Amino acid sequence: MSDDLLDSIFEKAVSGRTLIKNRRTLTIDYVPDKLPFRDEETKTIAQTLSVVLKGARPSNLLLFGKPGTGKTAVIKNVVQRLHQKAKELGIEVTVPFVNAKTANTGYKVLYEIAENMGINREEEKKLQVHFTGLSMGEATDRILDFIQKKKKLHVVLIIDEVDSLVDKNGDDILYNFTRANEQMSGGFISLIGISNSLTFKDKLDPRVRSSLSEEEMVFNPYKVEQLQKILAERAKLAFNDDVVSSAVINLCAAMAGRENGDARKAIDLLRVAAEIAERERLDSVEERHVRFALEKIEKDTNYEVLKNSTTHTKIVILAIMKSKNGNTGEVYDVYSSLCNNFEHEPLTQRRITQIISELDQLGLITSDVVSKGRYGRSQRIKITVPTLTVREAFKDDPSLSTLDLAD
Ligand SMILES: Nc1ncnc2c1ncn2[C@@H]1O[C@H](COP(=O)(O)OP(=O)(O)OP(=O)(O)O)[C@@H](O)[C@H]1O
Ligand SMILES: [Mg+2]
Repeated sequence: MSDDLLDSIFEKAVSGRTLIKNRRTLTIDYVPDKLPFRDEETKTIAQTLSVVLKGARPSNLLLFGKPGTGKTAVIKNVVQRLHQKAKELGIEVTVPFVNAKTANTGYKVLYEIAENMGINREEEKKLQVHFTGLSMGEATDRILDFIQKKKKLHVVLIIDEVDSLVDKNGDDILYNFTRANEQMSGGFISLIGISNSLTFKDKLDPRVRSSLSEEEMVFNPYKVEQLQKILAERAKLAFNDDVVSSAVINLCAAMAGRENGDARKAIDLLRVAAEIAERERLDSVEERHVRFALEKIEKDTNYEVLKNSTTHTKIVILAIMKSKNGNTGEVYDVYSSLCNNFEHEPLTQRRITQIISELDQLGLITSDVVSKGRYGRSQRIKITVPTLTVREAFKDDPSLSTLDLAD
């Protein structure tokens, strides 16, 4: 590529009009001060937590809701205000926040809790929770000892995406933390779990389930009109005047509202659409940019989900693609024979039925019930993602090395 060409690209980047005046307000970490349509949820969570300011233990709390319904945003706002108030009143509260999905392993969750609580700033090494090297039990004991004996702390522990912790590690950590108060003489710990899986509770031991859900709250999906308002507010912060019309906002809201009422998706659509318009060096975002954005986002998310699936989920997807009639029995047979090819022990049919229903929820497959006249009805499962995307997403997985997607 010639120097002149590169130079002109960079030149244009500087001289071109940027449509986005504050990019930060469109990033995933940005939490606005005001969250319209979440007053009730904010109030109830704040009331539950407020007792900590009087030295009492708040109830454990479980927050549920589909992706992009504002769970993380609401809790972050409440906790920030709680910290502020506690500081004004000179009260010590400790509110460690971990995201179990990004922390990735059970041990890493414990390590981050310890980091957040300042345990690793202790002088004595034997009180610290090191990055590696301790058993899970020892790490838990050190955290609980710190809360109880060492500092008599009032702890509200928030575990976001808690279902991913349970999927990877079972519910031992939750069991230990929810039960700890029974033995504690000084200090206490309350637990707030956040999950976007509505079936998450079924995976818990009944004892953990009942302690963790002393209180529960469900965040409902946003309606299209609510998404419009949320987007309009965000657009004021993010864009220069006259860049985004209400038609563009309404289209983003309609697209994001059609399926899940997901505010993240609505904001993503607006951001990606604006980026496309910027690249075209236009002065405003057009509706066609939103349609491009939808295509791009869907392709990217499907790819990410497929790439990060477990090996068995991947094999199930392959089985669905290879099966002729797409009924559950046939998919299971193809799955079992693929497992043999890849030298994996097949999971039970019950588990595979569960995986199929998870894939359905994620929108990666559709499953229709087709009538077969007097022979009754049967299910027909079909994949919704192009073969090319599946091939791209699976190509680096060493456990599928003999994979042949050509047929
Ligand atoms: N009521 C609201 N007003 C303004 N912005 C909102 C509102 N609800 C959510 N958002 C924004 O939408 C995005 C997604 O919200 P959030 O991360 O809280 O969703 P979530 O329920 O935690 O989803 P997930 O289950 O996927 O973690 C964030 O950028 C957040 O700022
Ligand atoms: Mg969240």
